[in-house]
Amino acid sequence: MQGVTIVDHPLVQHKLTIMRDKETSTAGFRRLLREISLLLCYEVTRDLEMTTRVIETPIMEMKAPTLEGKKLVFASVLRAGNGLLDGMLDLVPAARVAHVGLYRDHETLEAVEYFFKAPSDLEDRLVIVVDPMLATANSAIAAVDRLKGRGATNLRFLCLLAAPEGVERFRKAHPDVPIFTAAVDEKLNEKGYIVPGLGDAGDRMYGTK
Ligand code: PRP
Ligand code: URA
Repeated sequence: MQGVTIVDHPLVQHKLTIMRDKETSTAGFRRLLREISLLLCYEVTRDLEMTTRVIETPIMEMKAPTLEGKKLVFASVLRAGNGLLDGMLDLVPAARVAHVGLYRDHETLEAVEYFFKAPSDLEDRLVIVVDPMLATANSAIAAVDRLKGRGATNLRFLCLLAAPEGVERFRKAHPDVPIFTAAVDEKLNEKGYIVPGLGDAGDRMYGTK
């Protein structure tokens, strides 16, 4: 699939299987999502631009590699995006954070915005949008529309699970935004849930329903 990177690392796949299991507790689900987010973050940032700076080790001076350019932005699609965000901030503590509050209307499956807050200079930064689930892609498309509307030009979308239908729709709407995911499942069901999936990510993370 063009523009889609599947992070098939054994640890990611093992943890994802436990997350899919309906017997996994809320605490377990949240902990695993945080752990997987570290591995996904490693992959989505793999090709960041580097430069060098001169430092002195206890032995000698050296030109050492360091990240180039402005700080990243992680854009979390609320609520479930926060389950990926926390671990990613552990790895990239200086990242800026945008919050895009969206919920799926259960009848229409349209994304409804209830909150938006982002750094002002998105045009100068790489923006990594995080949300565990890409189902119909309505939420992901709306989040990226909104961020582009605020000036973002360089974006990536990171999720845990995707449906083929969502991948196709997202790639059509935003062909310039690569997708990183741990798995692309079989299909969407008639209620817009990913099959076999893991259920409602937000509810499983927060113990709601
Ligand atoms: C879930 C998920 C995505 C969205 C994906 O959020 O976290 O944002 O559904 O579905 P879509 O691709 O069909 O738009 P939900 O709307 O359930 O909100 P929540 O995170 O607050 O639970
Ligand atoms: N949102 C979820 O949390 N799970 C799905 O399967 C689809 C959308």
